[in-house]
Amino acid sequence: MIVLDSLLPCLRHYIRQSSQLLLLVLLVWMLLFFAVFSYFTDSQVNQLHRTTFVFNSESQHSTHVQRSSRAIMASHNVPWGMFAERRGTFQRKQVFQPPRAREEIHFRNFGKRRVEFRKNVMKPPETEFNTWSVVRGLWKGQVSSKLLGQRLQKAKNNYILSNEHKVFYKGQRKANKGRQEILCQIKEQAQLRTLNSSEQPFAHLGFQQLVPPQLQQAYRTCAVVTSAGAILNSLLGREIDSHDAVLRFNGAPSKGYEKDVGSKTTIRIINSQILANPQHRFNSSLIYKNITLVAWDPAPYNIDLHKWYQNPDYDLFNPYITHRKNFPAQPFYILHPSFIWKLWDIVQSNTLENIQPNPPSSGFIGIVLMMNLCEEVHVYEYIPSMRETGLCHYHEKYYDAACTFGAYHPLLYEKLLVKRMSTSFEEDLKKKGKVTLPGFSKINCAL
Ligand SMILES: *[C@@H]1O[C@H](CO)[C@@H](O)[C@H](O)[C@H]1NC(C)=O
Ligand SMILES: *[C@@H]1O[C@H](CO)[C@@H](O)[C@H](O)[C@H]1NC(C)=O
Ligand SMILES: *[C@@H]1O[C@H](CO)[C@@H](O)[C@H](O)[C@H]1NC(C)=O
Repeated sequence: MIVLDSLLPCLRHYIRQSSQLLLLVLLVWMLLFFAVFSYFTDSQVNQLHRTTFVFNSESQHSTHVQRSSRAIMASHNVPWGMFAERRGTFQRKQVFQPPRAREEIHFRNFGKRRVEFRKNVMKPPETEFNTWSVVRGLWKGQVSSKLLGQRLQKAKNNYILSNEHKVFYKGQRKANKGRQEILCQIKEQAQLRTLNSSEQPFAHLGFQQLVPPQLQQAYRTCAVVTSAGAILNSLLGREIDSHDAVLRFNGAPSKGYEKDVGSKTTIRIINSQILANPQHRFNSSLIYKNITLVAWDPAPYNIDLHKWYQNPDYDLFNPYITHRKNFPAQPFYILHPSFIWKLWDIVQSNTLENIQPNPPSSGFIGIVLMMNLCEEVHVYEYIPSMRETGLCHYHEKYYDAACTFGAYHPLLYEKLLVKRMSTSFEEDLKKKGKVTLPGFSKINCAL
């Protein structure tokens, strides 16, 4: 007993000392770890992004965002040239190839450790959030933006703050409409509209002679082939080609990817960058020949056509006029901004949260365009399948969850709405990444 009594304080002292030592060692180790960690991540970021990241600064202003994002658009060409690829095997040469889609540009504007980059080989970024919980939510038709990582939520909030297109939505918000109700809403409100000579300044510009007759073919079944990375290894090519009409996006190639994406193209939706940026070789590349072309550019939300004509995001009007004169036999349209923003209104009206005040993605625009023209619309890999890896596009090797879940575009909400309009079984979604929608001609709405 006496021995124990004298031993106890001694023991206590010893334990206290050794635990202090342990704490010190732990602290030094952690400091070292953070130093090494931040050294590596910073050098990667600096390597990739020589442009400024407005979305990482807390104290930005809306004008700052706008100015910077335009500057970034203009200066995007250096780092991204490394991601050139050809026919599925990705080149390692540092060939300049600019981003092909508006989506890409905007995804690329922000986000720090977006991609892991070593020796020109792109690898999936470490997961910022549980991708699969969002994907499963989309499969079930129930998902919230709260599940997205901080980076994407922050990007969304910054777009809401900057409100580049001056969106002011005053309509209703109802998140519980049934399938039929949504379909009737979209049929009633989203009739296809392309630019014609009925309004200024386009009447003065001679659009009377310039524009082809109204786009109104009627196809039975149609395929909308998204450019999502997850379509790789899908072996959907043959099924896609079996449709009467196939819609593709921007510069997405089929050559070299036929077994997964098919080879037929009937219509191509192109954003204004494709027309304006010579690097897309719009007037020489074969992928834009002998098909119907539908171009678009984000106009102000208030549809001020004069303002838009004077200051489009990218000049699409001059190349359009030139192309129509050179190839009068090729059907080529410009989507009316009222069509684009009506689609945005529809997405917002079915969502309680504020969605990004930016135009919907080309994907969503293409889906609704085809609902106008086809009896049945089959959409491939818009809602991600089990093949989802974070790979942005099947034809480019870089990874970013923003491509699938949205940063600039209100993609998550668009996808949720498309899922809610479809009759697809979860199995079709999971395994094929396919949703089927009725065309407007097959939607019956009681008046
Ligand atoms: C132009 O488009 C509008 C809306 O789609 C249509 O009502 C009008 O008839 C068209 N005008 C011409 C000249 O094609
Ligand atoms: C192709 O487009 C560019 C502008 O992007 C233009 O400068 C050039 O003249 C065009 N070429 C032809 C053959 O039309
Ligand atoms: C254009 O496409 C049609 C059918 O889609 C085909 O019959 C025609 O040969 C094609 N023309 C050229 C020049 O490729």
